[in-house]
Amino acid sequence: MDFSLTEEHLMIRDAARDFAKTELLPGVIERDEKQIFPDELVKKMGELGFMGIMVDPKYGGSGMDTISYVLIMEELSKIDASASVIVSVNNSLVCYGIEKYGTEEQKQKYLTKLATGEFVGAFCLSEPEAGSDATSQRTTAIDMGDHYVINGTKNWITNGGRSDVYLVIAQTDREKGHRGINAFIVEKGMEGFDIGPKEDKLGIRGSDTHTLQFNDVKVPKENRIGEDGFGFKFAMKTLSGGRIGIASQALGIASGAYELALDYSKVRKAFGTEICNHQAIAFKLADMYTEIEAARHLVMKAAWEKDKGLNHDMSSAMAKLYASKVAMEQTVEAVQIHGGNGFVKEYHVERLMRDAKITQIYEGTSEIQKIVISRGVIKN
Ligand code: CAA
Ligand code: FAD
Repeated sequence: MDFSLTEEHLMIRDAARDFAKTELLPGVIERDEKQIFPDELVKKMGELGFMGIMVDPKYGGSGMDTISYVLIMEELSKIDASASVIVSVNNSLVCYGIEKYGTEEQKQKYLTKLATGEFVGAFCLSEPEAGSDATSQRTTAIDMGDHYVINGTKNWITNGGRSDVYLVIAQTDREKGHRGINAFIVEKGMEGFDIGPKEDKLGIRGSDTHTLQFNDVKVPKENRIGEDGFGFKFAMKTLSGGRIGIASQALGIASGAYELALDYSKVRKAFGTEICNHQAIAFKLADMYTEIEAARHLVMKAAWEKDKGLNHDMSSAMAKLYASKVAMEQTVEAVQIHGGNGFVKEYHVERLMRDAKITQIYEGTSEIQKIVISRGVIKN
């Protein structure tokens, strides 16, 4: 067993760390406050290869492994979890979904642009009546011979107002239940495809979340992904990798908050000494470090399994469940270590605390991760 990172991994991590500090940090408070989507920064992340990290270079990607993806996600998320969710959705849901299950034509037409950041992608599974209960899709995609007609509503869609390519899950044959669900590539601007207003959120406010409406949207048959009826499995398989992205986002939020709390505790004085010398604070730091390290091991194990081509349904669910819990708990502790300063924006930890909460909700709530894990445990 080897826990060390390669030279290449260390270089990638340092490049992401440097980008986060020099490019993401300066405007992060304003983007959060005003809910500004970081258009220019997305372009820069595309130039650095962060929008298609694991995509084969023949499709314009960086050809890196999932460990590299985790390292980049952690570094971006330490500073700006809004930017990192844009990266996560584009990489592990949209690029991965098309590269793994799409046709060569779909890869040439869409993946080549998504992998370079020229296009941004969105993944549209959730609906007002089908969140955790994802097989209850109400959006329909009726087979009309050479095309499908899509009708329905998707909600909570990340990158919803800024994407060029939308992967849309919809029900084609209700009688077949989840085996009658399909996944489609829908392009921005297709007739009948409308983007609703932006959500005003607690956290990840620099990311873009919208409800989408589909009114008789004609989608060519060649835009279906996989065999007829593969759509639900497509979503589940893709989400198994996506959850590694969100687990690394949670890991980054937790470690970003920890680093700020550690630095602060070494300079802030109370009762004649730096507060890190009070055991109550030192023990908080010890717990934070230990739990973040445990989360990192789970996330890396899931990434390693994915890179080895092993089933990672359970490991990604465990990584997301645990890392998101650590992010929520440890960002609260980071605010506490900052005292009153933790409660104001310029110290960053209050934002990290607000951002942490979403990691327990999207890409499957913590309760849903426990369903996945418990089913795996019982089956094995
Ligand atoms: N791989 C392959 N197939 C899978 C699978 C997997 N990981 N998980 C389930 N399936 C298959 C099952 O085998 C079954 O098929 P068969 O009947 O042919 O065997 C079919 O899918 C239905 O599975 P279940 O019976 O287990 O379905 P269920 O109704 O009990 O639901 C669930 C399972 C795990 C709870 C699922 O509904 C789920 O994951 N819900 C959460 C939805 C979610 O994660 N949404 C995220 C939206 S994207 C997002 O959030 C992005 C973002 O924020 C940034
Ligand atoms: P519900 O399913 O209504 O759940 C409500 C509560 O009940 C939760 O606590 C849940 O865990 C619990 N619960 C439900 N069923 C069970 C059960 N069987 N056992 C125990 N507890 C249960 N979706 C996309 O498709 N694409 C996106 O890009 C996307 N981005 C998002 C961005 C943001 C900011 C947000 C808030 C959401 C996003 N989502 C996206 C949607 C997200 O995946 C869903 O919100 C999530 O899956 C939960 O669904 P729900 O909100 O309908 O909650």
